[in-house]
Amino acid sequence: MAGVKHRLSSIWGEFLNETTLHGCKNTSAKQHGHVKRTLWFIFVGIMLGILVYTTCTFFMKYMEFNFVTRTSVAYHPELEFPAVTFCNLEAFDKNKLNKSNMGNFNKADPRVLEYIEQLRSASLNFSNLQDLRPNETEINKLGFEIDDIIRYGFLQNPKETILKSQFTVTYREPLEKCFTFNGRYLKKTYEHNPLKFHANRDMFLQVDTNKDRYPFQSNFFGVRLVLHHPDEPLNARSPSIILTPGYLHTITISEKRYKYLSRPYNSYQNQECVEVEKPNQGSGEYRSPYTYGGCIIKCLSNQTQSLCGCIIESLLHDNSSIFCTVAERHGCVLKILRSFRTSPNSEFCECKRPCFETKYDYELSSVPQTSNRALHNSDSNFYLRIAFKDTMVATIKHEPELDFGDIISHLGGYMGFCLGASVLTLIELAEVVMKSSKTIILPRRFTVNSPQIPPPIRSEKREIDNN
Ligand SMILES: *[C@@H]1O[C@H](CO)[C@@H](O)[C@H](O)[C@H]1NC(C)=O
Ligand SMILES: *[C@@H]1O[C@H](CO)[C@@H](O)[C@H](O)[C@H]1NC(C)=O
Ligand SMILES: *[C@@H]1O[C@H](CO)[C@@H](O)[C@H](O)[C@H]1NC(C)=O
Ligand SMILES: *[C@@H]1O[C@H](CO)[C@@H](O)[C@H](O)[C@H]1NC(C)=O
Ligand SMILES: *[C@@H]1O[C@H](CO)[C@@H](O)[C@H](O)[C@H]1NC(C)=O
Repeated sequence: MAGVKHRLSSIWGEFLNETTLHGCKNTSAKQHGHVKRTLWFIFVGIMLGILVYTTCTFFMKYMEFNFVTRTSVAYHPELEFPAVTFCNLEAFDKNKLNKSNMGNFNKADPRVLEYIEQLRSASLNFSNLQDLRPNETEINKLGFEIDDIIRYGFLQNPKETILKSQFTVTYREPLEKCFTFNGRYLKKTYEHNPLKFHANRDMFLQVDTNKDRYPFQSNFFGVRLVLHHPDEPLNARSPSIILTPGYLHTITISEKRYKYLSRPYNSYQNQECVEVEKPNQGSGEYRSPYTYGGCIIKCLSNQTQSLCGCIIESLLHDNSSIFCTVAERHGCVLKILRSFRTSPNSEFCECKRPCFETKYDYELSSVPQTSNRALHNSDSNFYLRIAFKDTMVATIKHEPELDFGDIISHLGGYMGFCLGASVLTLIELAEVVMKSSKTIILPRRFTVNSPQIPPPIRSEKREIDNN
């Protein structure tokens, strides 16, 4: 055992002599007296304590996962134009609800028509309509068509006429028929050729509110407008504005991009966010990327399907879906949708935000149409111009306050400052510790055969020195 002790002390003695840890060197230096060595020992101990303390507090701070918000503004030559949805405040056309006109228009189911009339009349009496299943096709037949709403529209610079086929019928709420331009969400086949706008491009439309054709008495005339991301469907909580007839409305859009941090930071209102893969370029099988609105619609459809056993027009459906009867609609579906509209965001549907979101801010300015701008039906129409305010994009990005590199540099700084140590010193130390443990374990086997092992460290060190 004495041999082991001797070898250990020589290994450590050598390490302490040659190390760059000057404090350690001084604690064992032979030329120092006992008192001086003790003082050095205490001093090194204090420094080691400070190092451990600061490192621990720093690490604890890192484990709090705080984040900072960084805002940057970048210029892009072109930006993707958002989807634009128009919903007339009155979805139904008086002429189509008029029973004596039925022959002239596409023949809608007279019972669906009666259902709509009952809905809007003061006395709700569905007693003979309970088993009616108003499906999307029938409801569509009674509403305004895209030609009624959009008189004409084009994109400018370069000029391009907007075709009616570029609009798809969507529903913001039950019975609220809307038309979406540039929406990708409901498209069956995916073509990722986004509509790009540069700074001078704009969209110009003449929109007709058809206020003479509102079938029910109303104090409000106008068209609801929602700007949303092309991949994202709209829902009852999408922010919207109402555009009234008799004006030239100009909307300027600014795009904002948000980047949140996922676990463990959960930088979006303490909620986890979903990493979203990039949309596949070109055309092919459609897989819409994850969006918050898409998740809401899926979740609402799921809940309705499982609680009521049927679906309605404003939720996800295909040609095999079973539409709800009037009884199911009013007894079940509309209750679910109402509770969605009134409950706070996080409680209804556990939809997570994507970690990367694009949002559009917009400003509206409206100028009354002057009478000499000969407008037919000027009391029912309005003009609308939509353009990007500029093609600057503000990116609001959450970043970790401390990352792993900060820990390393902190550790390096404090180790150097307190002890004069570096990572290489630590490696040396680890080497010495390994050698010591080898010396403790191995001799039991080798003492008999080779009692005189030269201290291995010396020879190795020489080799390193010679190289
Ligand atoms: C229904 O249509 C007929 C024929 O077009 C018309 O005479 C009648 O006034 C309309 N009724 C309503 C309530 O609009
Ligand atoms: C509802 O309509 C049915 C038949 O259409 C009628 O028998 C019933 O009395 C009506 N109920 C009310 C409350 O008006
Ligand atoms: C919609 O309902 C009508 C009857 O109300 C029916 O004739 C029609 O086939 C239905 N369409 C679909 C797609 O289910
Ligand atoms: C919808 O319901 C099915 C089963 O009924 C479930 O597998 C699926 O995860 C649900 N989707 C959402 C978005 O809740
Ligand atoms: C129903 O949808 C499927 C694909 O989802 C399609 O192949 C089929 O032709 C559709 N049927 C009708 C009647 O539209």
